[in-house]
Amino acid sequence: MSIKQIGNLMVFLGSVQKIGEMIDFIDSETFTDAFPIDIENNRAKVFSGRRYVDNTLKDVVYEIFPNIKNKKFFIANSIYPTAFNDPYYKQSLVAYFLHYVNKFFNTYLKEQGAKQAIYYRYPQKNIESGKLNPIFPHHFFTYRLYEPNRVELLYCMTSEGMYFGKTITVADSNFQKDMDEERPFKEFKFTIPPKFAKTLISFLQLAPSVKNKKIYDPFCGSGTIIQFGHMLGYTVFGSDIDNNYIKGTRKNIEFASQLLEDPIPQKVLMENIFQSDISDVHKHFSPESFDGIVSEPILMPISENLPNIRKMDEFLISDVIPIYKKFMEQAFLLLKPGRKLAFVSPIIKTSGNSRLNLPINSMAEKIGFKTIQLLSTDHLPEKTVDPENSSFELHRTKFKSIFDGSSKKILREFFLLVKPKPKKANKKKN
Ligand SMILES: C[S@@+](CC[C@H](N)C(=O)[O-])C[C@H]1O[C@@H](n2cnc3c(N)ncnc32)[C@H](O)[C@@H]1O
Repeated sequence: MSIKQIGNLMVFLGSVQKIGEMIDFIDSETFTDAFPIDIENNRAKVFSGRRYVDNTLKDVVYEIFPNIKNKKFFIANSIYPTAFNDPYYKQSLVAYFLHYVNKFFNTYLKEQGAKQAIYYRYPQKNIESGKLNPIFPHHFFTYRLYEPNRVELLYCMTSEGMYFGKTITVADSNFQKDMDEERPFKEFKFTIPPKFAKTLISFLQLAPSVKNKKIYDPFCGSGTIIQFGHMLGYTVFGSDIDNNYIKGTRKNIEFASQLLEDPIPQKVLMENIFQSDISDVHKHFSPESFDGIVSEPILMPISENLPNIRKMDEFLISDVIPIYKKFMEQAFLLLKPGRKLAFVSPIIKTSGNSRLNLPINSMAEKIGFKTIQLLSTDHLPEKTVDPENSSFELHRTKFKSIFDGSSKKILREFFLLVKPKPKKANKKKN
């Protein structure tokens, strides 16, 4: 795969931050023999396990750096555990393994004739506390890890074992940060985080050939989704009931296009971003105009306290569900056959520790959409279950929707629907 194809894959996958190439693998039994939590009582296993790891790394070295003599090297070692709150991460991977790989590359490269072999030093306090992040994507640029003989090595722990690899490409997080934090209009309380905006867009599965693909957000608010859609190269359209948001979205898209050094004509800005209630959006386009519709309507009032379940249920029935229904009907009309609608709907925590959500799947089916299963955990490694922190709990199951973190009063539930292509009429047999 070429670097360009990998870059395209990154866009296709949405909010991916790093892509690495896996070079070698050590099964989990051998690896934990070499790096147990309790070294003192497992000396013999540690000795043989480490000899195996040593030999594997020696092969890895020559695969990554075919020429070593008289060269200078800089290595950043990034460890990805199965879960950051896994005790094995703190007590073995950070406590022993990180030190081991730093020392290994430092001494082995010099033994093989390198002039210099330096490694990235993490802050000591992070190492001691065990709260260590792998190096951040922007460090890839800061430390020029794309240059020859400068590399970020990846150690990815799974339930099967440890994969070794090196980073090939990262998303330019500083650019995305500017797009998000420096934009002129950002007073909206429900602004979708850029990573969710990009994830929703990636659900449409239109990348990598995005040129001239039209995507539309009919509840655009401050325009986050279409701003990132524009960054990814789509032709974007947005509307909202509130004209102040329309003015703000236009400013944000203009700002993004300046940042991208690809100015957008005023005429396009005025035509593609317009004020409309969801009920009327079909009046602005011909049917089957869009390659993708992507949105975050939510439509919930912001309240300090957890609402009463009965009152909230009534509110959802009277105020929220009808707008979501309208939204899905309009989307069905405006999507090309075979194309997708990706959106967010609220899950509301109520008093009495209950949660309410919208009957999206049944509404979607009645309109004619097919729901796409969003996550199957079958292929994911078993995650550590920490009773103190339920966010790491992962049940092996198939999900028709997925939702974000558990710390807020209103959670985001993600859905993906497809407008089926009409069935071809069967040719009559004579
Ligand atoms: C959750 S916000 C969207 C925020 C947006 N994703 C962002 O990042 O800024 C929902 C938007 O829906 C708009 N809205 C509410 N009711 C609407 C309706 N009936 N038709 C169209 N837009 C509506 C609101 O004005 C608000 O801007």
